[in-house]
Amino acid sequence: MAITLKDEIAQVARVAHEELSLVQDSNALEQIRVHFIGRHGKINELMGLLKSASLEEKRECGPSLNQLKQEIEKALVDKQLFFEQALSNSEIERASLFDVTAYRHESLQGSRHVYTQIIEQLEDIFISMGYEIATGPELETDYHNFTALNIPLHHPARDMQDTFWMHLPHMLLRTQTSSVQVRAMETKGAPIALFAPGRVYRNEQVDASHSFMFTQGEGLVVDKNISVGNLIATIKAFLRIIFEKKDLQIRVRPGYFPFVEPGLEIDASCPFCSSGCSVCKKTGWIELMGSGLVHPEVLRMSGIDPAVYSGFAFGFGIERLAMIKYGINDIRLFHSSSIDFLKQF
Ligand code: DAH
Repeated sequence: MAITLKDEIAQVARVAHEELSLVQDSNALEQIRVHFIGRHGKINELMGLLKSASLEEKRECGPSLNQLKQEIEKALVDKQLFFEQALSNSEIERASLFDVTAYRHESLQGSRHVYTQIIEQLEDIFISMGYEIATGPELETDYHNFTALNIPLHHPARDMQDTFWMHLPHMLLRTQTSSVQVRAMETKGAPIALFAPGRVYRNEQVDASHSFMFTQGEGLVVDKNISVGNLIATIKAFLRIIFEKKDLQIRVRPGYFPFVEPGLEIDASCPFCSSGCSVCKKTGWIELMGSGLVHPEVLRMSGIDPAVYSGFAFGFGIERLAMIKYGINDIRLFHSSSIDFLKQF
């Protein structure tokens, strides 16, 4: 028995309904759409057959073919809506599982180390005053660290600074950046104005204010007619910038350093109070540095004629300056790599 158009429509209808009932996602749904109601799809194929069918068949099959087409189209729309709804439901579900209290990884922003900041500020200040920045080796000779600074062998002043001696003869880890003065005077002569920041080493017990390694800033000016007045004016000017205090005062007390004569201890008026606070230990003054007029013997040893030239020098602990400026209470923090500490600067 020949297959009638009616049978074919019924067959297509069965397959279409079955496929539509089983479809799982919108990609497969689109394939079904193309297969059945696309331009070259099954429905159009049946429409073609209908055209050449007998009048009777047309009357019988025309409406059912149209109905099948509408059924498929409606099912396609329904399914598509269903898939869209399912998708948004799963998004809502995912959002409801989102824990707003969960720990979030913060991205940490880096900052320059407090050493870098204060050393650069010091360098800027001294460069603006016409100084050059000088460096010297940390592994130093006994001569540059002591002898040329008027501290000969067996001089008791060597005991003021507990030294790390090397196994190499006459070599040590420099105990003071004053050694850079010597090297600069030897190589450049006078006149000279330098600022030398750098690490120094001392065999000391470590505590909140002492470390076996720390940083010093050393200043040296040698020219004609240099006096204590120049020294005081210079130190006052740079401390006023560092502590951002225009009326900061300094006072000098006698101090002993073999490479200067006279030797002076310099105190600054407390930048934080006028009548005494914990920073200045209720004295109103803070001890900051050693200084003086360069000893004629030191000039002579480095090849500068003390009859023509005179000079002043000063040296201070950079950590101590930073600790006062930023309110840091423990020198060990500088090398602690503590993020909490570092991110404050
Ligand atoms: N070098 C000395 C120290 O480490 C500090 C110092 C004192 C440096 C007096 C100087 C100075 O240039 O004139 O304790």
